[in-house]
Amino acid sequence: MTKKLFIKTYGCQMNAYDSARMADLLAPLGYGATETAEGADMVILNTCHIREKAVEKVYSELGRIAKAKRGKPDMLVAVAGCVAQAEGAEIVARAKAVDLVVGPQSYHRLPEMIARHARAGGHVLETDFPALEKFDALPQAVSDTGVSAFLTVQEGCDKFCTFCVVPYTRGAEQSRSPESILAEARALGARGARELVLLGQNVNAYRGTDEHGRDWSLARLIGTIAEIPSIWRIRYTTSHPRDMGDDLIAAHGDIEKLMPFLHLPVQSGSDSVLAAMNRQHTADDYLRLIDRLRAARPDLAFSSDFIVGFPGESDADFEATMDLVRRVEFAQCFSFKYSPRPGTPAAAAKKQIGEAVKDQRLQALQKLLLSQQDAANERAIGKVLPVLFEKSGRGKHQVIGRSPYLHPVHAEGGAGLIGQIHNVRIQARTANSLKGALLESLPA
Ligand code: SAH
Ligand code: SF4
Ligand code: F3S
Repeated sequence: MTKKLFIKTYGCQMNAYDSARMADLLAPLGYGATETAEGADMVILNTCHIREKAVEKVYSELGRIAKAKRGKPDMLVAVAGCVAQAEGAEIVARAKAVDLVVGPQSYHRLPEMIARHARAGGHVLETDFPALEKFDALPQAVSDTGVSAFLTVQEGCDKFCTFCVVPYTRGAEQSRSPESILAEARALGARGARELVLLGQNVNAYRGTDEHGRDWSLARLIGTIAEIPSIWRIRYTTSHPRDMGDDLIAAHGDIEKLMPFLHLPVQSGSDSVLAAMNRQHTADDYLRLIDRLRAARPDLAFSSDFIVGFPGESDADFEATMDLVRRVEFAQCFSFKYSPRPGTPAAAAKKQIGEAVKDQRLQALQKLLLSQQDAANERAIGKVLPVLFEKSGRGKHQVIGRSPYLHPVHAEGGAGLIGQIHNVRIQARTANSLKGALLESLPA
């Protein structure tokens, strides 16, 4: 009989990838996916430590899980991901219902941890950083990949931005070998993936070494993946402006399968804030980089991440951020109030910004970013865009896909279109998506 596995995922796409890998890893032990914690034989919370709110959500979910476990005492509860890595011992002390705590670099050991728990009971905790052992130990992707699939190529971060926990929760930068990535890319293509999203905390810092000892850059990796016939579209995220190499910029002009959308976090438009954040570039460096990318691929659409209310941020600093946004014209963006994280240098800075000022700035920034997103969507109306259909929509024949610029596009056409690219004439927009009518199909 199959056992029921419930996985709840918080945080970034890398956690989504890891959750799928954990499901693959546990499938041979008889675990199959279920939709709720109630009645599950095993619950995994794959957690995020990036902002305080993300962590609070985990602890409140653990309260609910503890209740569900009262009705099913043999339920196995695991906390994985970045909160597990950062606060493993605290979780064990605070949340009695938790049996297993596993960091993002150790989850390939879950089967062994489950066996150890069955033998000896008590808490089992694994939060080492074994060097790339994980990817060798994981099975080939077996879970439903979907039309668009994530593929982690790089992990960890050496940048140590002063606000950020990632270097502590994910460890040092490490790149997988090109051979193992290419094998996974082909396997995903064979299982129906048509788009691959290459993932890394600093994906453009990718530097893999092949079996002949030769170095591979992200641009070379993308170029080689583009030769796989079943893969039609390639994206990558998240990039750091400092690691945007010449060959990667050129790739945006040269590689047709590389989609014209780039998430390039800048965080702030003020040089003094950027310096205090340890971003290691100026606002002008960023603007020049955007110019070079647009020169390589004029229709490239950009998104970014912003933090408002970083310690010491003045009104003038914030205005510099607004100014940078006006100059770039983003298609989409994510913006956050600064959240002091335990153990990071910025959390100890004296000039913390009050909540009311953070709120005001976030509102003003989001208003501007939203107006740019609206304008980008408005510009798509009347255009014909090739849409890769990924799933059914609410209506009977409605299907939803993505344009090259990552817009969600709704059209009428039926589930038969899923996994295909079709030209769609864009007719209207809602707040976050486009609507259009199908034209003739493209040869795949
Ligand atoms: N590696 C990526 C970002 C990973 S974290 C990069 O270098 O850009 C995702 C986003 O969360 C960051 O870009 C940042 O905008 C936000 N973030 C990270 N730490 C934060 C904090 N302490 N408070 C608020 N936002 C934060
Ligand atoms: Fe965090 Fe900076 Fe590394 Fe991005 S580059 S993960 S923001 S430390
Ligand atoms: Fe969160 Fe860890 Fe990703 S802190 S954003 S889940 S790397």
